Amino acid sequence: MKNVLIIGATGQIGTELTMKLRNEYPNGQIVAGYIPGAEPKGILAESGPSEVVDITNPQQIADAVDKYKVDTIYNLAALLSATAEAKPQLAYKIGLGGLYNTLEVAREKNCAVFTPSSIGSFGKDTPKDNTPQDTIQRPDTIYGVTKVAGELLSDYYARRFGVDTRSVRFPGLISYVAPPGGGTTDYAVDIYYHAVKGETFKCPIAAGTFMDMMYMPDALRACIEIMEADPSRLVHRNSFNIAAMSFDPEIIYKKIQEHVPGFKMEYEFDPLRQAIADSWPNSLDDSCARNEWDWKPEFDLEAMTVDMLKNLRAKLDIK
Ligand code: SER
Repeated sequence: MKNVLIIGATGQIGTELTMKLRNEYPNGQIVAGYIPGAEPKGILAESGPSEVVDITNPQQIADAVDKYKVDTIYNLAALLSATAEAKPQLAYKIGLGGLYNTLEVAREKNCAVFTPSSIGSFGKDTPKDNTPQDTIQRPDTIYGVTKVAGELLSDYYARRFGVDTRSVRFPGLISYVAPPGGGTTDYAVDIYYHAVKGETFKCPIAAGTFMDMMYMPDALRACIEIMEADPSRLVHRNSFNIAAMSFDPEIIYKKIQEHVPGFKMEYEFDPLRQAIADSWPNSLDDSCARNEWDWKPEFDLEAMTVDMLKNLRAKLDIK
C-alpha cells in the first residue's frame, strides 16, 4: 500500500508519472495535485483522486497529505529553464520556496520526497564531457540556482531531520504525451512534431551543441526505482546523474531523416536558449546511479525515434 501525492501532476512528467504510479500501486491512493487552470482531464481525471495543491501554499500540501494519508510526495512543480529566466522571481518561489514548503510538510508528517534536479544544475565551470557525479555546480540560470540549492536543502533535511529525500538529475525529456514548454531541450521534442506533420523544423539550438536527453519511459522508471531503492546502498541522495543518450541537433535531424526521408531542418538561433545550452554539460557520467540502485536506460536514439514517430502519427492521426 502506497499513498502518493504528485504536485504538478498535469505537467510534462506528472501527466505520465501519475498514470504509471496508479498502475504500479493499484491499492494505493495516487493523488494528482494540480493548480487551477491546469485541471486533470480524461483518463488522468477519471482514474484516481485529484486535489488543488499549489506548491506555494503549504496548507494545501498538508491538507492533501492528511486527507489521503500520503507517505510519498513527488514534487514536480517547476518552471523550465527559459521560462524561468523570463520570470526569475516566480521561478524561485516555485522552485525553492515550493520545495521548502514540501520538505516542511514531509518533516512534520513523515513523508518521503522525490524532487527532480537537472543537467541545468551544472554551469560553465563544470567538466563538460562525462560530467562526474560530484563536481563543480555553479549554474548561471535561476533554474539551475534553484536546482542546486534544492539538492543541498533536500540533503540537509535527510541528514538533519531524517526525511527520506531522493532525486535524479534529469536530462532533456522527450515524450509524445504532454509537451514540455519553456525548456532549453524542448527542441528535441518539437522536431518530431514537425517531422510527422511534414513541416520544416526551425532549430533554435546550433549544430554542435550536445546535451543529454532521455525518453520518457526511462525517466518514469527512474522516478520509481530511485524511491524504491534499498537505502542502505545509497551513498548519494540529492541528486544522482542519470543518462541515456547525448546528441546535437544534426545527429537527431539525421536520425529522423532515416525514418522520414523528406524531412527538412533549418537553424533559427535563439540567443537565450543557446547561452543556456552552452553552459550545460555535453554528457553526464551516471555510474553512481548504476552502482547504487542499478539504474540502466532502455532507449537509445534509434529506439526512441521509432517509438516517437509511431506514437505521434497515431496521436495526430497522420498516416
Ligand atoms: N529540460 C529542462 C530545460 O530544458 C532541463 O532540465 O529547461
